[in-house]
Amino acid sequence: MRAEDAPLIRLEDYRPSDWLIDTVDLDIVLDPTRTRVRSQLQLRPNPAGHAGAPLVLDGDELTPDSILLDDVPLDPSAYSLSAQGLTIHAPPARAFSLRIETTLDPGANTKLMGLYRSSGVYCTQCEADGFRRITYFLDRPDVMSVYTVRLEAEKTQAPVLLSNGNLVAAAELPGGERHFAVWHDPHPKPAYLFALVGGKLDHVRQDYMTADGRKVELAVYVEPGKAGRAGWALDSLVRCMRWDERVFGRNYDLDVFNVVAVSDFNMGAMENKGLNIFNDKYVLADPLTASDGDYASIEAIIAHEYFHNWTGNRITCRDWFQLCLKEGLTVFRDQEFSSDERSRPVKRIADVRTLRSTQFSEDAGPLAHPVRPRAYKEINNFYTPTVYEKGAEVIRMLKVLIGEDAFTRGMDLYFERCDGTAATIEEFLDCFVEASGQDLAHFARWYEQAGTPTVVASGKYDAQARSYKLQLAQSTPATPGQSHKQPVVIPVALGLVGKGGDLPLTSISPALKAGGVVVLDQPSLSLTFTDVPEAPTPSLLRGFSAPVRLELDLGDSDLLTLFTADSDSFNRWQALQTVAMRTLVRAGKGDMSTLDATASALGKALSGFLADPALDPAFAAQVLRLPAPADIAREIGIDVDPDVVHGAHRRLSAAIGGALAGQLADLRVSLTDRGPYSPAASPAGRRALRNEALGLIALGEPASGARLGLAQFAEADNLTDRLAALAAMTLIPGAEREDLIARFGELYAREPLVLDKWLMAQALIAEDGTLTRVKGLMNHPAFSLGNPNRVRGLIGGFAANLTQFNRADGEGYGFIADIVIALDRTNPQVASRLLGSFKSWRMLEAGRRAKAEAALRMVQTTPNLSRDVADIATRSLA
Ligand code: BES
Ligand code: ZN
Repeated sequence: MRAEDAPLIRLEDYRPSDWLIDTVDLDIVLDPTRTRVRSQLQLRPNPAGHAGAPLVLDGDELTPDSILLDDVPLDPSAYSLSAQGLTIHAPPARAFSLRIETTLDPGANTKLMGLYRSSGVYCTQCEADGFRRITYFLDRPDVMSVYTVRLEAEKTQAPVLLSNGNLVAAAELPGGERHFAVWHDPHPKPAYLFALVGGKLDHVRQDYMTADGRKVELAVYVEPGKAGRAGWALDSLVRCMRWDERVFGRNYDLDVFNVVAVSDFNMGAMENKGLNIFNDKYVLADPLTASDGDYASIEAIIAHEYFHNWTGNRITCRDWFQLCLKEGLTVFRDQEFSSDERSRPVKRIADVRTLRSTQFSEDAGPLAHPVRPRAYKEINNFYTPTVYEKGAEVIRMLKVLIGEDAFTRGMDLYFERCDGTAATIEEFLDCFVEASGQDLAHFARWYEQAGTPTVVASGKYDAQARSYKLQLAQSTPATPGQSHKQPVVIPVALGLVGKGGDLPLTSISPALKAGGVVVLDQPSLSLTFTDVPEAPTPSLLRGFSAPVRLELDLGDSDLLTLFTADSDSFNRWQALQTVAMRTLVRAGKGDMSTLDATASALGKALSGFLADPALDPAFAAQVLRLPAPADIAREIGIDVDPDVVHGAHRRLSAAIGGALAGQLADLRVSLTDRGPYSPAASPAGRRALRNEALGLIALGEPASGARLGLAQFAEADNLTDRLAALAAMTLIPGAEREDLIARFGELYAREPLVLDKWLMAQALIAEDGTLTRVKGLMNHPAFSLGNPNRVRGLIGGFAANLTQFNRADGEGYGFIADIVIALDRTNPQVASRLLGSFKSWRMLEAGRRAKAEAALRMVQTTPNLSRDVADIATRSLA
């Protein structure tokens, strides 16, 4: 079958499996090129399925060495094999056992799905459909089984043997060269949560006692010699386990919890039951090889995968259309954890930045899809910002709408009722209907309708009547396959800001709910606040209470009032962003007329803000960072010239940086910490502000920027400050920059994870020479197309470079398209994610649009594409 002809899998076609598998016994003898897998399955007809149906087992790149049904070899006429698997035509209409033996070559597995080797370590990745690359199986999440796994290997090659659940036996084999381990996982689970690891690994460990009294051995395994970098991950694990007990009442349920870091991994990390496998980038940390951002990501991703134990594993998904049931909910949970560990408003601002840059852009382009898609060709292409980040926003809105107490009761009910099942969004929402007594049928539209709604707001104060009339209207643009949109339920958290702070909110409108939330569930809404003593400035969508675009009829001076006076930190930040964004959008379309005046207004506001002795550095760092060029381009939305957009961004930044250079330099001095590095939120916040200031100085006063940047590099005792120095210097062309780049590269020549950042910093330089530089760096000894982290660093960095990926001559598109095609032969998942860089091509001006389209067509018409890449190419062009 050609990839383009892959069948469309539809939600409405779901039906239960005809067969169930109660237990799985795996006996796996690990070998670099000939790993033997013996699987014994106990099957029975599913009462909810069709009686007498054939047994269709999934298999991908497998051939059976032997098949026994109830211990009798199966006659070749009783089954058939295809590229999709193995069909037993007429299995007995009762429970029976099946023994199947297969042989795998993990060393040749470059897709990094199924069983593969990473730097000599055997490991697996089975979500979404990798288990079928290990053995024949009903590889679907609603088939849940109890697993017992025996692993055997040469002791020198794999002294560590891990799988899911608890260790039940381990011993040396006669002769002393080989050994085995048996793992048993008592919790029934779908195949996508299966994992094994075998190899030479060091570890750090710690005992943990759960709130309900279970002793758990926690361990983090890493490549030999790297145990000194595993402490932060282990510490994060302990903290998130306590948090889940305290906040969600969730205890861990096995005697061991293992985390393993591997260097070749398609994604960030994976929540396999009791055996989480991580991209080492999200485990390893020490001050000189991990940045503050890395420490924060490790904490968040350790928590995310741990939280899946309840939201994903104990309660899994009925089918992959329900992916947001586990992913959106678990992102919400990890966001809440990080908010509690750090600064809530700063975390919210960072999350909203990510949402806008990744999800809003997806929603605005050809790859837009609902939080719960209705059809797919390749499920791996639906692990998207929409499913993850918008999925988390939907949960957050639900909490705002029904209130904290009802939300907690609904979660408790969900854990109780759905534990041990493969659930749906409907079952999840039913728990909140019951807990809150509210009808959530209209709210559920958030799961079905793609596109980012726009809310237009306008208000009018009547001094005579002491009333304020607010009008809100919503609309959602058409997206592929959904031309006609319905209104959604939008919680608009708001306040009316007066001279002395928030004014009381009084209205007889039923749309106004407790806590200052107005629910906009119609196309438009008008409500009147009474007893308003003075003309207020409305503060709308506080805390970013809904994932929408907001258009306000406020002028810059009102926004600057909000920036200083709003009690909502998010909206203080947003107010300044909006002032900057308006000018940048205008300038990005070629009208520079308001740029200088805005620069001076922003400069004045910032100057006062930075002088406040009560300044919160982490928050201030967010305030100083203007909307990125890609955000401006997205807001413009049509006929975008990236060079003009980038020029506007540079000019505004340089004007502000120039005006504030002296103050920023002094501030930097006052923010300097003495004493050893700590990744804690407050020193990290001070570094963030110092480094944000450095970037502005580098653009405003390049000579002082270069001096400060080089000094910082020389003095830094941590990667955060070294990287910030490098990033600042990349803004200033010249010999000093090239020299620093070279020194940095030598310093970290043996640290691939740091080199990824070094490669990315160079790939992001907004200059014509970057494409040549990137091509040159592909020959760097550390670079390899076979390692996803290297590819994401260098190639992914270039694809994120707004002006250079979108070069007017189209060479950027051609370069990425060629790499996508080359990579598709070895690793389709990484190739297809890279091709996703074209997701905003339709917003470009005509010349670039035509060149981007041609590159996409070149990919699409390449013979023998994977389903992953073919699907993205086709949908991007549709
Ligand atoms: N279940 C996913 C891992 C995964 C992703 C498997 C895609 C198969 C395909 C895991 O829980 C996850 O979501 N990982 C994220 C990081 C997370 C913090 C959002 C990832 O890998 O990017
Ligand atoms: Zn996840």
